[in-house]
Amino acid sequence: MSLNLHNKDFVSTRNLDRKTIDAILKESSKFDKGNYKKLNKTIALLFFEPSTRTHLSFSTAVRKLGASEIGFSNPKASSLAKGESFSDTIKVVERYADAIVIRHPLQGAAAFAADLSSVPIINAGDGANQHPTQAMLDLYTILKKKGKIDGLKILLVGDLKYGRTIHSLVFALSNYNIELSLYSPPSLALPERMVDELRSRGTKVNILENLDFSGQDVIYATRVQKERFADLEEYERSRYKISIKDADTMKRDAILMHPLPRIDEIDTAFDKTKHAAYFDEAANGVPVRMALLSLILGGK
Ligand code: CP
Repeated sequence: MSLNLHNKDFVSTRNLDRKTIDAILKESSKFDKGNYKKLNKTIALLFFEPSTRTHLSFSTAVRKLGASEIGFSNPKASSLAKGESFSDTIKVVERYADAIVIRHPLQGAAAFAADLSSVPIINAGDGANQHPTQAMLDLYTILKKKGKIDGLKILLVGDLKYGRTIHSLVFALSNYNIELSLYSPPSLALPERMVDELRSRGTKVNILENLDFSGQDVIYATRVQKERFADLEEYERSRYKISIKDADTMKRDAILMHPLPRIDEIDTAFDKTKHAAYFDEAANGVPVRMALLSLILGGK
């Protein structure tokens, strides 16, 4: 398979076309089945912000590929703590690694690093902007659970304004023939410019006033981020909770996804239902990130 990811940065889903996404998903399935070659490369994981899934699944992916990992998950243990700049950090690490995976609290940090770096930059989440590898594992999860993406009704719930997983997912989904419904607290709606862009790409977008799961094939919930609210009362008003009772209002074969971490927006009792897909979703981070690393570094 020839794919234009070789030696390329992977910082956003905005410009990914369907052919490329379908190829990533197909390749991920091969890695999921254990059908892959080793990758004799060094990969730097630079995490400037906390992470469980993204960091550990990239780390697992690197080990399973037989590649070498360098990096840090605590920038205070690097020379950044002595005042070294982000730019100098990237210019040094690119001399040690064949690719750099970056999570950073600032929007645009990955794109900035990509402009500086001679080795590919993979965005593992930059502020409220993008989390493109999460979107790939989300699509892979939908495909694996539902057997298709086209024709599905997909509901996004929660913080659609600041949720980087949402921003990456909606642009990736806009390559497919889906019907998208959005439900959020009023202050956390998907930015209007994004809704307009999705509609101009031909995606049907419904804005819901009430949380209604009926008829949806995929429900994708996200955390309402307390830290975004100056007014704690508004935060309390904005919270929602999916409980075991809500399972009765869902289609029999509907799946409930969540990029995690969850706080309390999905009752843990829901985990035992056949709808709960979020832990399998987290597991899919490994084959999908193995496939991405191999496609970018030319290991296949
Ligand atoms: N889904 C996700 O990005 O989780 P982490 O913040 O734990 O990496």
